[in-house]
Amino acid sequence: MTSSHRPSPPIGGFAARRLIGVDDLSDADIVYLLDLAEHYAGYLMRSAPAPRRLAGKTQINLFFEDSTRTNLSFELAGKKLGADVINVPVAASSIHKGESLVDTALTLSAMAADIMNVRAKEPGLHEELDRRLNCVVLNAGDGVREHPTQALLDAATIRSQFRSFDGLAIAICGDVKHSRVAGSDARLLSRLGAEVRFVGPKHLMPDDDQFPEVARAGSLKDGLDGADIVMGLRMQFERMSDGARDAAQGYYEEFGITYETLKLAKPDAKVMHPGPMNRGVEIDGALADDTERSLILNQVFYGVPTRMACLDALVTRGE
Ligand code: CP
Repeated sequence: MTSSHRPSPPIGGFAARRLIGVDDLSDADIVYLLDLAEHYAGYLMRSAPAPRRLAGKTQINLFFEDSTRTNLSFELAGKKLGADVINVPVAASSIHKGESLVDTALTLSAMAADIMNVRAKEPGLHEELDRRLNCVVLNAGDGVREHPTQALLDAATIRSQFRSFDGLAIAICGDVKHSRVAGSDARLLSRLGAEVRFVGPKHLMPDDDQFPEVARAGSLKDGLDGADIVMGLRMQFERMSDGARDAAQGYYEEFGITYETLKLAKPDAKVMHPGPMNRGVEIDGALADDTERSLILNQVFYGVPTRMACLDALVTRGE
C-alpha cells in the first residue's frame, strides 16, 4: 500500500463488453485491467485527483444483497472518475410494491445509464440483464457463482506484493462450497499462472466435478505446505442448509487461520480474506490485524482502483 510505483496507463484496446464472470475477459483484458488498476492506485496513494474519464456518464449500483466493500468502493470509484453515481436504495424501492428485479433494472437503465453494477443471487439474472439493458452490466456478486471484481482486486493486491504470479502457491481455505470469491479467484489466479488449492472439510468443498484443475486438501497440514498466500473465507451460514451449519461446529479448532497454523505455510506467507470476516470463526483477529502478515486492508484499498479500472475499461472500451 505504500509503494511509490507509478506505471503509465496501459496502451491498447479492451475487448470485453460485459463483466459477469472471469471468462468474459480475455488474457489481454485481464492484464489491461491490472495495469490500469495499478495506474489508478498511484493516484489514490498520492491523494491526487484521477482523470475524469467518466464525466457525463451515469453509473447505477443496484444491490439486492447486503454489501459494504463492493457497493461503497464502486461508488467511490465512479465518483473519482467523474461519473454521476446512483446507489439504488433497494429497501425503499418499488420492489416492495411487487416490481420485479428485471423491471427495476429496465427502469433504471431507461434513465440513460451507461453501466449498472448488480448484486443479486438469482441464477441467470445478470445474463438476462445483459441481453435486455442498453448499458454495460457488471456482476458485483451473484449467489455462490461469481464475484469477478473481487478476483481482480485480489490479483491486483497479490501483484503489488509479489510482482509475478508464476508458481505462486495460493491456498483458499474454508467454506469454498458457498463462496463466489473462491470460484472467481480460482479461475483468475490459475489463468495468471498461480497454483491454486482449495483447503477445507469435505462438506464445505464444491462438488467433485467442479474446478477439476484445482487441487484439494482436507487438512491445513496438507493444504498450507509451501503456500505463499493463505486466503481465509467467511463461513457463509446464510447459504447453508441446517446440516452444514451444524457441521461448522469445531471448525476453528481444525481449520482456523492462526499464527500457529500459518507456520504450516512458507515462513513469510501472507494472509488474505475477501471480507467480511468473522474473527474467531475462520481467522484469528490479531493475525488479521497484523500488517506484517495480513493483506486484508490492502485488498480493501485495491478495491477502489480495481473498480475504477473496470468502470473505465467497460464504459470507454479503452479509448
Ligand atoms: N468482499 C465483499 O464482497 O464484501 P461485501 O459483501 O462487503 O461487498
